[in-house]
Amino acid sequence: MRLGTPLSPSATRVMLLGSGELGKEVIIALQRLGVEVIAVDRYSNAPGHQVAHRFHTINMADPQALRALVEQEKPLLIVPEIEAIATDELARIEADGLAEVIPTARATQLTMNREGIRRLAAEELGLPTSRYYFASSVEEMRAAANELGYPCFVKPVMSSSGKGQSLLKGEAEVEAAWHYALDAGRVNHGRVIVEECIQFDYEITLLTVRALAANGQVETQFCTPIGHRQVKGDYVESWQAQAMSEAALAKAQDIAHHITSNLGGRGLFGVELFVKGDHVWFSEVSPRPHDTGMVTMITQYQNEFELHARAILGLPVDTRLHSTGASAVIYGGMDAQGIAFEGLAEALQVPDSEIRLFGKPESFERRRMGVALARGKNTAEAREKAALVASRVKPLKV
Ligand SMILES: Nc1ncnc2c1ncn2[C@@H]1O[C@H](COP(=O)(O)OP(=O)(O)OP(=O)(O)O)[C@@H](O)[C@H]1O
Ligand SMILES: [Mg+2]
Repeated sequence: MRLGTPLSPSATRVMLLGSGELGKEVIIALQRLGVEVIAVDRYSNAPGHQVAHRFHTINMADPQALRALVEQEKPLLIVPEIEAIATDELARIEADGLAEVIPTARATQLTMNREGIRRLAAEELGLPTSRYYFASSVEEMRAAANELGYPCFVKPVMSSSGKGQSLLKGEAEVEAAWHYALDAGRVNHGRVIVEECIQFDYEITLLTVRALAANGQVETQFCTPIGHRQVKGDYVESWQAQAMSEAALAKAQDIAHHITSNLGGRGLFGVELFVKGDHVWFSEVSPRPHDTGMVTMITQYQNEFELHARAILGLPVDTRLHSTGASAVIYGGMDAQGIAFEGLAEALQVPDSEIRLFGKPESFERRRMGVALARGKNTAEAREKAALVASRVKPLKV
């Protein structure tokens, strides 16, 4: 792999599909290597738009619009940052040899729908998962929930960040959960997964990288496990390292290796796993950097975004941890445009801390507007420090 000069005929062009806070960091990592970056999102001035060479605002779920933009920009690589994309068109773009899709078009197709990835993991690869059923009507959903027992989870097959998800505590809640899932599902497919509730001790993200080794073959490497806490399906804090038994770690790596080898290509994946004692269950996988992995910006020699950038460009990676650390989400806390932040100086008085403000043009009550990062001598201390930093940042209307 050779890298050219941006904005010249030799340029190595990469197109990000989705340019939120995760895409922004991938773009910064690519910029540092002199890659020409085109950032795409559905709204203007998205975080990644602000750090790219060029940006476009299109509906990425529209196959014609996506195709036209790829033909216009002629990127070498297409790097999806979100799930809600016209992935069938990506497959055609890949098949027509217009660009390489990261990690593969098939991986983006399978992971955008819970049914695709769950059937692959559980039914084809035989990986341990929660028991589950898919349902396309309220009657099917009720039967599935009664079979699995309560509590159980209901999720639209196409959704992320906990949207449309319910934890059903009894049959009386089935009807409301069905309508909630239908309203919040990304595309109104009227299909849900009903999942047994796993009573895990903790859950992790195992960042797994498929990168070229010296011999030119793809090699799988793992980051140190990241622990995290979710509220209503959305991550609020994460820490690294999450302590695990040797047996659980070995199983987690084995599961991650299986699923990522099947998805193929090069890049970083976020493999979500539930752990109880030495038992490990596969939950889902992102074929791209993971929100809980933002902690790696303060804990690893190469954070998850740099790892992704290197891996997709065919460069070697180093997944080692240098410090114990934690991340805590900074929420908008209000619905408003162009908000400001105060308390940053007080926040950064906390030793060994950092802040990222994403620069999102519009704030919502529960929108992630920034993240606080901190190192600590152990995860408990790091979590406390990151939470303190986040709590001192005060969003305000101007
Ligand atoms: N079967 C389950 N048993 C126990 N907890 C679960 C189960 N499914 C989901 N959860 C909890 O809900 C969280 C969100 O679920 P999941 O990852 O499937 O949703 P998501 O909408 O894809 O979220 P994201 O896009 O943020 O990863 C999990 O991280 C876990 O805390
Ligand atoms: Mg998840």
